[in-house]
Amino acid sequence: MKSNIVLIGMMGSGKSTVGRELSRQLPDFNYTDIDAEIEKSTQKKISEIFLRHGEPFFRMLEKEKIKKFCKENNYIISAGGGAFENEENRKLMLETSHVIYLKATPEAIYERIKQENHRPLLKKNFSVEKITSIMQLREKNYEKADITIDTTGKTPQDIVKEILGALNNG
Ligand code: S3P
Repeated sequence: MKSNIVLIGMMGSGKSTVGRELSRQLPDFNYTDIDAEIEKSTQKKISEIFLRHGEPFFRMLEKEKIKKFCKENNYIISAGGGAFENEENRKLMLETSHVIYLKATPEAIYERIKQENHRPLLKKNFSVEKITSIMQLREKNYEKADITIDTTGKTPQDIVKEILGALNNG
């Protein structure tokens, strides 16, 4: 039984905004953001964890939080952009949750996040090309989601409507 909703997709694809909006429309669901949970329990920013302890340590914390929340019921879970790359995470998410991939173009992602500087993977060579190359590596896994939503030109409200429609038809 799939009892949660997991949002996946690249950094800046709108997972947190859409997740919060979705939870407003689904009052029986709780909302959580895996990165925020990691920051809360370590009392450190994600960028600081990458810098001080390295990406493998971050991925371990990420896996722990995913395990914790996927075992719950009625959670809307916004996962970090790289979380679905790990096979164990992917399997657990697909078993326990409706996995929704928010697909956006590298250009749209660039526009959304160009003012921000808290994303460690994009600190070096931040460009449309860099986003494209990360996306190309991840696309094969992102496409294993239950539902893919093309977010191009859509508002968070449009996207939520589409998600609800797809869940009701599924
Ligand atoms: C990452 C995405 C980030 C965060 C970390 C790594 C990634 O989350 O988990 O910086 O590998 O794509 P968002 O997708 O919420 O930005």
